[in-house]
Amino acid sequence: MADLAAYGSRHTVVSLSHDPKGVTVDWSDGHTSRFHVLWLRDNCACPECRHPQALERTYRFIDHDAPVLTDAKVNGSGDLEVRVDQGTEAHVSRFAPGWLRAHDPIETDTRGWLPQPWDERISERLRRVDYTRYMNDPEAVRGWITALQVDGIVLLEGVPQIPGHLVEVAHRIGPVRSSNFGEYYDVVSMPNPNASAYTSMGLELHTDLANWRYPPDIQLLFCLKSTVTGGDSVFGDGFRVAEDLRTCDPAAFELLSSQPIEYRFHDTTCDIHTRSPVIEIDRSGRLQRVRFNNWLRGATVLPAQTVEPMYAALRKFWQMLRNPKYQLHLRLRAGELIAYDNYRVLHGRAPFDAGSGERHLQGCYINREDVDSMLRMIDRPR
Ligand code: OGA
Ligand code: ZN
Ligand code: ZN
Repeated sequence: MADLAAYGSRHTVVSLSHDPKGVTVDWSDGHTSRFHVLWLRDNCACPECRHPQALERTYRFIDHDAPVLTDAKVNGSGDLEVRVDQGTEAHVSRFAPGWLRAHDPIETDTRGWLPQPWDERISERLRRVDYTRYMNDPEAVRGWITALQVDGIVLLEGVPQIPGHLVEVAHRIGPVRSSNFGEYYDVVSMPNPNASAYTSMGLELHTDLANWRYPPDIQLLFCLKSTVTGGDSVFGDGFRVAEDLRTCDPAAFELLSSQPIEYRFHDTTCDIHTRSPVIEIDRSGRLQRVRFNNWLRGATVLPAQTVEPMYAALRKFWQMLRNPKYQLHLRLRAGELIAYDNYRVLHGRAPFDAGSGERHLQGCYINREDVDSMLRMIDRPR
């Protein structure tokens, strides 16, 4: 079957029954799955239905009669083998049990990014990964990605202190996601800053590029020099704050998750706006993204009756973000690179005294698609 991913499963098919509309499969763990004939026929991965090299779908269901399932069995290899009739045509398809199981709702609902909320032990929990292992050992990359998925944050240690080297770290996963600040940017206090990051001011907890329709997924912040007084980093678990807000102030949560507000960045070269709620949820109410950045907040035009509740909700959310119980404090040292989920974890820094020494960070972004893809590549059988 034309699928490069590994679909290992502890579960086997113990019995099945079929009718013209599909197959009902009983698994060794007692779970039962139903697979519709339309879906089975459409997802056949034989060389007639998928391009044998590109592995992309070539079967076009629109050009065929509705399939009627005429036979189903577990063949000698343990695969589900189904036969369908479509008018004058007949077709046989085979499905590995691991593949079928991976495409059952019981599995698909629990895959992917499963954030574990921070607690007071987050500093100890913070996963530290060695740079050399990360560059050479797929299992170290897996550990780095898993920490990003579960904790939303992970620290790489021992990165060569070479300006721009964060791009090599990014490329271990995938291409860099560029922005108006370039492929990567220098976070230093500069004479004519076009952004708050390029000053010595403190930065309150925020997410980056909140003014973009799709802010970058993952941020990499690489420390090259850190001898100034002040400038410590702070991070906050935005999902935990949002969940607590949902409980303690449901009206504020409802407003922040439904009413878009304006975000804007502009300088001499660009003027980038978007409108989006501070908290984004899916149709089941699950948190998707937190977007909060006070200096990028634009002048939102709101219905008159929404002004007061919006400021009250923003105040509440912001006050909660300032509560140390949601925070992780860290002093980044030269050669450390912190990466975090810009959809979940907010970041900031204390003010620093630019005359007291040097502080030089570099930042860039990568895509979650590339992170997920790398994990699948590590799992792919070789
Ligand atoms: C940034 C940022 C934090 C810091 O560049 O996005 O928030 O520690 N920097 O300077
Ligand atoms: Zn086929
Ligand atoms: Zn930032």
